[in-house]
Amino acid sequence: MPHPKTIAIDGPAGSGKSTLGALLAEELGYLYFDTGVMYRAVTLAAIQEGLDPMDEIAVGQVAQQIRIDVQPPSVNDGRDYDVLLDGEDVTWAIRRDEVNAYVSPVSTYAAVREAMTEQQRRVARENKVVMVGRDIGTVVVPDADVKIFLDAAIEVRAHRRYQELVERGKDTSFDTVLQSLKNRDKIDSSRAISPLKPADDAVVIIADCMGIQQVLKKARELIFNAG
Ligand code: DC
Repeated sequence: MPHPKTIAIDGPAGSGKSTLGALLAEELGYLYFDTGVMYRAVTLAAIQEGLDPMDEIAVGQVAQQIRIDVQPPSVNDGRDYDVLLDGEDVTWAIRRDEVNAYVSPVSTYAAVREAMTEQQRRVARENKVVMVGRDIGTVVVPDADVKIFLDAAIEVRAHRRYQELVERGKDTSFDTVLQSLKNRDKIDSSRAISPLKPADDAVVIIADCMGIQQVLKKARELIFNAG
């Protein structure tokens, strides 16, 4: 298969973009970079410092000061990568409820986006990468060789996310998951800077009735044709 350098995958929470990105990266031998972890790490850093995550100025300063590293997994506990916040392993801590609750507002802050976008562009310059997020094809790497926007109906996404959480032993309800996804969709799509939307030249895949193997097949075709 010919190898384009940068593959951008965007889409809303629960669309399956992380699963697709991780599998494609493994298949191609590319770096897999899930950019959502950076916004999560900033949110966690603010909480750990005892700041109010809604304090845009303070959180913006935190984003400029911290170091976030995403590395190959060092522990075999189901993770796809290690996330280090100033050297501390926060791979699972960034998935906590309090981070989920604040990460969307934090990701609307201009200073936060500026700091994260700069780091993401550096990774794209230096690596062959499958980069997953909300604004990769529109803002971070607008000249990516392949742009996929993976979407699915909110009920389908909520159902998948609910199943994942139950499998991880989390005590939650379908309605809680659905409501939380609705809130995040609303904030992610309506923010002023880099809102969630397909790039004009992205291929939109609606995965309502597609399993991961079908989505992978479609993505492989796009990559092949771009090579
Ligand atoms: O993909 P995720 O659920 O881990 O993303 C967490 C939040 O980060 C989500 O609310 C949107 C934001 N995000 C973003 O604004 N831009 C990106 N490139 C990736 C994530």
